[in-house]
Amino acid sequence: MRFKTTNQQFVKMINSNYFPATSRYNTMNYRRCGKSGILLPELSLGLWHNFGDVDTFSNSLQMAHYAFDNGITHFDLANNYGPSVGSAEETFGSIMKKSFRPFRDELLVSTKAGHDMWQGPYGTWNSRKHLISSLNQSLKRMSIDYVDIFYSHRYDSNTPLEETLQTLVDIVKQGKAIYIGISKYPQEAACFAYHYLTQRDVPCLVYQGRYNLFNREPEKDGILQQAYENGAGFIAFSPLAQGLLTNRYLNGIPEDSRIARGGFLKKEALTEEVIKKIKCLNEVAYNRGQTLAEMSLAWLLKDQLVSSVIIGASSVTQIADNLKALENTNFTKEELKQIEVICG
Ligand SMILES: NC(=O)c1ccc[n+]([C@@H]2O[C@H](COP(=O)([O-])OP(=O)(O)OC[C@H]3O[C@@H](n4cnc5c(N)ncnc54)[C@H](OP(=O)(O)O)[C@@H]3O)[C@@H](O)[C@H]2O)c1
Repeated sequence: MRFKTTNQQFVKMINSNYFPATSRYNTMNYRRCGKSGILLPELSLGLWHNFGDVDTFSNSLQMAHYAFDNGITHFDLANNYGPSVGSAEETFGSIMKKSFRPFRDELLVSTKAGHDMWQGPYGTWNSRKHLISSLNQSLKRMSIDYVDIFYSHRYDSNTPLEETLQTLVDIVKQGKAIYIGISKYPQEAACFAYHYLTQRDVPCLVYQGRYNLFNREPEKDGILQQAYENGAGFIAFSPLAQGLLTNRYLNGIPEDSRIARGGFLKKEALTEEVIKKIKCLNEVAYNRGQTLAEMSLAWLLKDQLVSSVIIGASSVTQIADNLKALENTNFTKEELKQIEVICG
């Protein structure tokens, strides 16, 4: 589905201090998220990395603008994104104040709570205390009154699921979030969550899980199918395996790369076997006329059960490359077979 910029929107843009490309909605495709009224852009932008206080604000700002100008209406955050924790939300808050504010209703902003955030027993996991305090902090940092999607960031086997889920329901009823999502929940807990939330008239909008050519858990665990059957959408995160499924590491470890900067992606991940796979996949992509990043994203988007794919990026150029993936999300049987053989 494609949108055109209306006259009214155009006037609003002229009146604001941010003047984005007017063709914003002409190039992006939007997919319905589960059985909800929400349409998600095929690509969303995640602020896990490259939006912290260690990063250059002007680059973060340019990436956010470029994404939005190209129809990426969904920005995915979490309380702990940075580094330092909380600083990605602060950066987003600065972007809100600087330019995005007039477009608040055109944006879908998500945040999450559940990972380690502040010290002490209330700074992590899924208690009512943590979720409510954390969301209040997030709203302040992002300089917004509500989030569009609030996620339980991970399953917590020590907190009664009812406590967590009822808190999510209450947060929606308080108007602090419009929709609810769950992330990285095992299948059984997800099943409980879908039913609990539906019974309270706050159906789960979306499940967020790690899914890429190298990580097929959502297929194997039945998470994708389960989300669909429960009327929820599915959003894939780390679609490029944090950069492994791109041309970044074809010839070593670039100085400005995620591995070199240190963090969650360790150089140990770049084994001989992985390098071999990346090189072979790169050839398949080349023969399709795509970069490896484009092909990896297209591969996810060929499946209509995937509502959106959240990319991370360290430059506008990467976002531009990733957007090109949308031009060809069809695969021949032969290509799919080659990919399966390579990925093993
Ligand atoms: N729910 C959860 O628990 C959870 C967990 C993780 C992530 N997420 C969400 O998912 C988002 C995306 O995760 P991710 O950052 O791991 O995504 P990703 O798209 O797999 O990896 C992003 C990295 O890939 C590289 N890259 C991107 N496009 C490229 C291109 N065209 N060519 C070459 N390299 C390219 C960049 O690495 P360099 O920095 O090296 O340039 C970029 O930082 C996060 O921001 C967050 O919103 C959610």
